[in-house]
Amino acid sequence: MSTEPATPDVAEVPRVTTKTLQEMKEAGVPIAMLTAYDYTSARILDRAGTDVLLVGDSASNVMAGNETTLPMTLDHMIYHAQCVVRAIDRSLVVVDLPFGTYQGDSKEALVSAIRVMKEAGAHAVKLEGGQPVVETVERIVTAGIPVMGHLGLTPQSIYNFGTYKVRAREDDEAQALKRDAKRLEEAGCFAVVLEKIPAELAQHVTASLTIPTIGIGAGAGCDGQVLVTHDALGLTTDFNPRFVRHYAELADTITDAVQDYIHDVRERSFPSDAESY
Ligand code: KIV
Repeated sequence: MSTEPATPDVAEVPRVTTKTLQEMKEAGVPIAMLTAYDYTSARILDRAGTDVLLVGDSASNVMAGNETTLPMTLDHMIYHAQCVVRAIDRSLVVVDLPFGTYQGDSKEALVSAIRVMKEAGAHAVKLEGGQPVVETVERIVTAGIPVMGHLGLTPQSIYNFGTYKVRAREDDEAQALKRDAKRLEEAGCFAVVLEKIPAELAQHVTASLTIPTIGIGAGAGCDGQVLVTHDALGLTTDFNPRFVRHYAELADTITDAVQDYIHDVRERSFPSDAESY
């Protein structure tokens, strides 16, 4: 098997845009997306070559320690997005519109999206839902703001679902999801996240759309994949669904490093003369 990267030309792209993602889908090049919430991490993820950085409202869980994403405000999201945007050279930065900032009506949604673009310098927004948000998507897109959709297990609706189980296993929900995906594409979304749905359904939706799909717990048939960075790097220790692959065990690495530091402080072996003035 070749160890050459499959996509040397994509790595050379100086700035990933929504057009780049479209070209990647057409060329069959998988899109790599990760979440980011702060300057230091975003700088590392950008320099490592991540195509899309999602300032996700999962910041509510992994940064703020909330049980759900619902408490995030637009001001919180704008703060995190500003930190990420300052860090990046190449990645496309997509920012979640948080719960309660776009569901009211499409005018309110547009005002929220404009704040994210103006105050954070983001490149696109993401919002959750199908048919009920179609008019909103159209309005935001008409204003020149790229929109990413999000279907399947949409965490802002957790109290409606009542559980984080896989969505759209039943035929009626699967058919509705297919229709929603098509409507989001027609409304002007440049991509759509498919979260925690059967792989076969995600593959079908991916084949039926001209825009890219980005999967999380939706199998390998999507045009790209997204993970919450804290999960992928093993920083979250109490969240282990089967769709998460750990690419590092940073919680262990950090614990070891901190214990070494504590040891050296107690022993007075830190700081040394060379580390002093
Ligand atoms: O907020 C988030 O991190 C997300 C991803 C899980 C897709 O929406």
